[in-house]
Amino acid sequence: MTTFSKGLEGVVAAETETSYIDGTAGILEYVGIPIGELASKSTFEETVFLLWNRRLPTKTELASFTSELRSRYELPEGIAGRIKHLPKDAQPMHMLRTMVSALAMHDPSPNDNTVEAARDKSLNILAQAPSIVACFDRHRRGEEFVKPDPSLSFSENFMYMLNAKKPTPAMARAFDICMITHADHGLNNSTFAARVIISTLSDVYSALTGAIGSLRGPLHGGANEGVMRMLNEIDSVDDAEAYVMGKLERKERIMGFGHRVYKAKDPRATELMALAKQLADDTGNTDLYLKSHAIEEIMEREVASKGIYPNVDFYSATTYHCIGLKLDLFTPMFALSRIAGWAGHVIEQLGDNRLFRPTVNYVGPHDAPYVPIDQR
Ligand code: SDX
Repeated sequence: MTTFSKGLEGVVAAETETSYIDGTAGILEYVGIPIGELASKSTFEETVFLLWNRRLPTKTELASFTSELRSRYELPEGIAGRIKHLPKDAQPMHMLRTMVSALAMHDPSPNDNTVEAARDKSLNILAQAPSIVACFDRHRRGEEFVKPDPSLSFSENFMYMLNAKKPTPAMARAFDICMITHADHGLNNSTFAARVIISTLSDVYSALTGAIGSLRGPLHGGANEGVMRMLNEIDSVDDAEAYVMGKLERKERIMGFGHRVYKAKDPRATELMALAKQLADDTGNTDLYLKSHAIEEIMEREVASKGIYPNVDFYSATTYHCIGLKLDLFTPMFALSRIAGWAGHVIEQLGDNRLFRPTVNYVGPHDAPYVPIDQR
């Protein structure tokens, strides 16, 4: 019997070629390419191809892949119709989890989990999840849906469907960098959930629905919303010290900091910090960046020695805010991007599957008597 590792800390539960993390050095690579290279030189669509094919596409392959993805933005009528009947106060992550699950009912062969079928379904979900989020947000605002524009990239089309106007190139690029940096990250909780589900030879919809459920948690993808709420609670940069010290003294978690694997600054936080600063200056939100930077300096002084540094969520909050996204859409943005990673791991799991079934140390009683109810 191997020793029990709570939370499976340090346990190797799969092998992957999609992403590599060195938590000590603060390194993240997608198929060997450093995240900083991809954030500055690639696009999200190209990154998805990389994750699903474990190599960069040729120009022809990229054109064909993006054309196929963009041709699938349109929602099935039944899905658009369902969205119109959803409660307007539904929480977006509960909505997204529900509607991705509902997509299975508009697929003629939802249970087909050959690797090719999994790719095809994953492409559908990747293309349609942004349309679902955009349509729901317009529904809750009482506005008409915007038809997708297949001439637009993944990021451009999402922002177009959300706002009924095309984003500036700078805003579309900023969103694309967010999508690139959130796309995959080893065996994080939601990716593990997706692998566990598909390992029963269940289906892609079930695997990604479970992953969305996991990502909503504040210890995982939900942290970016927590960061924004924290920044809103801090009136000014000068109040950051008292706010952070108070939380640390009360042993409360500072959202956007700490990581099971990174014991150095998350390289995605470095990329997103630069983006957040630029966007904050461009959109009159400099105070958000200054508060974030002050919090980072305080945490560096107080807890860096414990290996607690900013993670991907810390500066993504300011970035999403400056792009103009509502706070309760921050975690859904994480999900839109991570569909790429979840699908990459589902495809990998199907390619060399073994049912996940760990064991437990039973620590309860043995040979216990069955006491009749009138004697209890
Ligand atoms: C993501 O796994 C992934 O790769 C996830 C992710 C991805 O791309 O998929 O990177 C995305 O989920 C990033 C993490 C987002 N979550 C948060 O920002 C929430 C706040 N962070 C923490 O709750 C925490 O850091 C975790 C959950 C992220 C990791 O926790 P661990 O590895 O279980 O560490 P732990 O809870 O055992 O904490 C170790 C110590 C404790 O102190 P002591 O009890 O030993 O004195 O560090 C302290 C904790 O109190 N600590 C924090 C802290 N995080 C850990 N103290 C203050 N603020 C924090 N944020």
